[in-house]
Amino acid sequence: MADKVVLITGTSTGIGLAVAAAAVRAGYRTVATLRNPDKAGPVRETGADVRRLDVTDSASITECIDGVVADYGRLDAVVNNAGVSVFGTVEHLPMSEIRRAMDVNYFGVVEVTKAAMPHLRATKGRVVTVTSVGGAVGQPFNEAYCAAKFAVEGFMQSLEPVAATVGVGVSIIEPGAVTTEFVANAHIDPAAVVAEAGPYAPALNAYINRTRSAYSTGQTADQVAAVVMSALTAYPIVFRWQTSDYARSFVASSLSDLDGSIVAGITSHWIR
Ligand SMILES: NC(=O)c1ccc[n+]([C@@H]2O[C@H](COP(=O)([O-])OP(=O)(O)OC[C@H]3O[C@@H](n4cnc5c(N)ncnc54)[C@H](OP(=O)(O)O)[C@@H]3O)[C@@H](O)[C@H]2O)c1
Repeated sequence: MADKVVLITGTSTGIGLAVAAAAVRAGYRTVATLRNPDKAGPVRETGADVRRLDVTDSASITECIDGVVADYGRLDAVVNNAGVSVFGTVEHLPMSEIRRAMDVNYFGVVEVTKAAMPHLRATKGRVVTVTSVGGAVGQPFNEAYCAAKFAVEGFMQSLEPVAATVGVGVSIIEPGAVTTEFVANAHIDPAAVVAEAGPYAPALNAYINRTRSAYSTGQTADQVAAVVMSALTAYPIVFRWQTSDYARSFVASSLSDLDGSIVAGITSHWIR
């Protein structure tokens, strides 16, 4: 990996931070990006080159990627990792929140990928994007989040054969629950959300309880980072990676669910 340059988004915490550390260990010249320089402490400790990039700020994307190519002379891989949870019923979420789910989780990925593609063509590089099992399976009270992750998966699955014609590999990573700052960063007060949920309160309450137990047995960010590192180097390129047996069986249930009854059978139990 001696010369290879990888750029990762969203490295202040969680999976992005773990990928930055793993990439440094693997010998990549690692550009770890984040939107808030005040949160750069942990990722600086990995030895990565830390730069600012907010995936919702076009100027910061161009400036960062142009700067990396100017300084290193190349870009070999992008890991689209930055993402946010947007949680709640469609009736109660303001449109601004639903749009934010798309802005960060979908348009952010598209814009970073678009800016990186000319440089990745030059190195026959890789685009690896952290989606979610929620990119293949719609989940209760995650309509906005899953819609954005489905959109990313549709984008990447469509791009993959086109990018392959110019030598660029495209992969997606589908984790289940991972014990990161993801839930805390959603700034949800469960009791308040349930209190405001009206007729959805019992279902929402059941969902929150089920989610707590899923996160108590979630994967670590390091486990997910190990899968990202495999995706970066796999040859032949593999498009779709689940990060655990649970994620594999959950995604499989949706991919083979032609009439929608299999997923409905699973997720309707979560909210009873
Ligand atoms: N944790 C899970 O259970 C889980 C499961 C499946 C998929 N995922 C996906 O995994 C990815 C990483 O999430 P995580 O679990 O590591 O959560 P996390 O600890 O909350 O990390 C999310 C990262 O994204 C960054 N971010 C948010 N908005 C951004 C923006 N506009 N520009 C640049 N960076 C931004 C955050 O920065 P700040 O610190 O500045 O907010 C943070 O560094 C996400 O795409 C998420 O959807 C997570």
